[in-house]
Amino acid sequence: MKLVFATHNPNKFKEINSLLPQHIELLSLSDIGCNEDIEETGKTIDENAMIKAEYVRNHYGYDCFADDTGLEVNALAGAPGVFSARYAGEAKNDEANNEKLLQQLKKHQDRSAQFKTVIALNLKGDQNLFTGICKGEILKERRGEKGFGYDPLFLPDGFNLSFAEMELEEKTKISHRGIAFRELIEYLSK
Ligand code: IMP
Repeated sequence: MKLVFATHNPNKFKEINSLLPQHIELLSLSDIGCNEDIEETGKTIDENAMIKAEYVRNHYGYDCFADDTGLEVNALAGAPGVFSARYAGEAKNDEANNEKLLQQLKKHQDRSAQFKTVIALNLKGDQNLFTGICKGEILKERRGEKGFGYDPLFLPDGFNLSFAEMELEEKTKISHRGIAFRELIEYLSK
């Protein structure tokens, strides 16, 4: 069975490809000649994942899945949420995003937050959603050099290491993305 993973990120592609059951032939966006950036116009993380999967289905006719992730901070009413990548502007700069988050949280006591990943699987037009949530808190200063995005500021509940201080394998065991992808793999392996 051919299945498209709607991502331009080769690392994400490689990681999920190695975990999928053998009967699935995973194709990337470039494999199907889709070189455009699919616009993320949804108001929620769920919507954005569905938009991307539907885009591939409607324009290229393939079964497909797409993921979308956001950081939701309780004291900021769920921000940055769908705007996580471009919180500090269209340049999508991790450093600027982290700085803005620290500034916005300065006057708040409550630093609780969660990462949420939603994967939308579109098989013959039928949608299925798989969700992974990782709860934690936003640190007062950056810790660690690994990872990307908000990793240096995110301390997952029950751990003394920020995401940026963890090895990828360790992070994936508890992360939003790890949880959502394991759910997808279980579903596809049935
Ligand atoms: P995407 O939907 O996976 O592209 O994620 C959107 C944005 O959320 C990224 O640009 C990052 O800023 C942030 N993000 C997503 N996943 C993570 C993570 O595991 N750690 C830190 N930041 C993340």
